[in-house]
Amino acid sequence: MTGDPEEGMLSWDESVFRNEHVFEIDYVPETFRHRDSQMQSLSYALRPAVRGSRPLNVMVRGPPGTGKTTAIQKLFDEIGAQTRDIQTIRVNCQVNSTRYSVFSRLFEGCFDYEPPSSGISFKKLFGQIAEKLVEDERVLIVALDDVNYLFYENEASDTLYSLLRAHEEHAGAKIGVVIVSSDPALEPIDELDTRVQSVFRPEDVYFPVYGQGEVADILRERVERGFHEGVVATDVLDRVAELTAESGDLRVGIDLLRRAGLNAEMRASRTVEREDVETAYEKSKYLSLSRSLHSLSENERALLEVLLEHDGEQAGDVYDLFHEETELGYTRYSEIVNKLDQLGLIDAEYAEIDGRGRSRSLTLAYEADAIEARLE
Ligand SMILES: Nc1ncnc2c1ncn2[C@@H]1O[C@H](COP(=O)(O)OP(=O)(O)O)[C@@H](O)[C@H]1O
Ligand SMILES: [Mg+2]
Repeated sequence: MTGDPEEGMLSWDESVFRNEHVFEIDYVPETFRHRDSQMQSLSYALRPAVRGSRPLNVMVRGPPGTGKTTAIQKLFDEIGAQTRDIQTIRVNCQVNSTRYSVFSRLFEGCFDYEPPSSGISFKKLFGQIAEKLVEDERVLIVALDDVNYLFYENEASDTLYSLLRAHEEHAGAKIGVVIVSSDPALEPIDELDTRVQSVFRPEDVYFPVYGQGEVADILRERVERGFHEGVVATDVLDRVAELTAESGDLRVGIDLLRRAGLNAEMRASRTVEREDVETAYEKSKYLSLSRSLHSLSENERALLEVLLEHDGEQAGDVYDLFHEETELGYTRYSEIVNKLDQLGLIDAEYAEIDGRGRSRSLTLAYEADAIEARLE
């Protein structure tokens, strides 16, 4: 070691971070690179709303962490800054996964207060929203973000049907719909009722996974805003980009940077080293698992808990244990199995069982330890 032993060490009031906030979940980035064509298609579809007409409906698809929510948010911000004649509302369907709760959010967006909790009928709720739109002469653009959750709960067709036929029941109401699906295995149109299919012909906008070069571009800017100069060297950033591209989810990279920074601070180091990144990755790689678990209901968690002890067993046997815990019937059980399968938490695969015909075996998609630790 040469010179001052304190050199390269952080004192208590110092930090590697210039602005840790840029690594937070709800941070909207100033620049949004590598999404020009998607932004153009979206704004083209929504443009009629600026002239007071009903915009084209849009179906946005792409895996998690490809910039879909950010694109909607940026566009809605731009529209809001440009005109008062358009009401934009983004509904998070992971949280609002029924038609009623989607419309409660729309009510809240239109009136700036929540609908009465005493429980007014859906018809009334909808009527008041439509009336308000007509009265204010505003076009409503609804983004159903992570709409795949509405499909998992069998609420997508009803929700879309109401939105798309609004102008028939409420003269003068103009509503455009953007659905955003994060489930690559879901074909939304195929899953809708035929009565909805006949009125829903959306423009398609696809968000592919970012390549490693694109990830590096995007994260470099985050590093510049978030860390002090010289904290993250190029080769360290390249490693982050590599791990991120492997996962396909840009969120992993952002989480990785933040955790690696914290690891460096833990060592009182002024620089983030490769090792800090590797250690951080042991946590960051479970980001999507954590997110999926977070959204589960009590009964859905109960099934996972049963599977922690009975990984790989037959659906019928697992049902008996699940039923003991929850007292739910087989139909509801099957729905929950399907949802966990769609979320990528379990694999439910048909197999021939001797003498018992075809049955599904239920296997956890992650190590039991990783799931258990994150179920709280
Ligand atoms: N082109 C981009 N430039 C900067 N940040 C981006 C870009 N694309 C995505 N992000 C960031 O990556 C994270 C995930 O993006 P998000 O829009 O939430 O993805 P999705 O909705 O497709 O899951 C967010 O923190 C967002 O700020
Ligand atoms: Mg999103």
